[in-house]
Amino acid sequence: MKKLVIAFVMAALPVLAQAAGDGPHLDKAPVDLHDQASLQRGAQLFVNYCLSCHSAQFLRYNRMGEDLGISDEQLKANMMFGTDKVGDTMTIAMSPKAAKVWFGNPPPDLSVIARARGADWLYTYLRTFYVDEKKPFGVNNAVFPDVGMPHVLWELQGMQKAVMHTTTTEDGTSHTAIVGYELVKPGTMAPAEYDAAVGDLVNFLVYMGEPTQLKRQELGVKVLIFLAFFFVLAYLLKKEYWKDIH
Ligand code: HEC
Repeated sequence: MKKLVIAFVMAALPVLAQAAGDGPHLDKAPVDLHDQASLQRGAQLFVNYCLSCHSAQFLRYNRMGEDLGISDEQLKANMMFGTDKVGDTMTIAMSPKAAKVWFGNPPPDLSVIARARGADWLYTYLRTFYVDEKKPFGVNNAVFPDVGMPHVLWELQGMQKAVMHTTTTEDGTSHTAIVGYELVKPGTMAPAEYDAAVGDLVNFLVYMGEPTQLKRQELGVKVLIFLAFFFVLAYLLKKEYWKDIH
């Protein structure tokens, strides 16, 4: 029993730590896997801006096409590199070794990133790159300090500066936190537009983490409808069987 209690407490710890407000504040990602247009826009952003460095080894182009309602022709014309076939998985040409030399850390495969990091983390991450001249790519990130990834969406978002605020507690330790952002160079998108685009992209990353989710939900609804139907049938049958006995 004691062991069970300890196991329970251990399992709850990460949740408790988050509830206690550890780590930076995360914005809520507008995830909606039923919004096919959003998923399509997210997929387009992903292949245009992320697939050059990150792979998605567990997703095939035609699987994505089927799930998101994109035809093979559209896939070939808008989303794929010349040599890829629709049945290929989303791999990249860059070798992990070269990537490590260029970026310090190789860009990880993003197939299951939404499950590893969570949608809110991703949504915040992609919107909180800020100017930091001391870093190799001239940017830093609010939720991933000293990140080795450039701000690849800067043309869309523009460049922002972080507004820092330092508080010193009574025992003399000081703590610096980001309290806001200031757009120093506008991008091609207005801030709200950029947030929506990143929302689409994160929506797509969530789909990618578990492509069967869409199918499973659809199947779940069908199963429930079947069960409801079957319940009525079973009830009527029961009444029929027992009617002479009562
Ligand atoms: C120019 C190459 C490049 C491009 C393009 C790029 N990234 Fe990255 N990304 C990196 C590198 C390098 C890292 C590893 C950073 C580190 O560990 O410090 C990284 C890390 C990440 C991480 C954090 C992974 C972790 O450790 O949890 C996420 C999430 C991510 N990228 C998402 C994206 C998305 C989404 C796009 C497209 C909008 C994108 N990246 C485009 C190079 C790139």
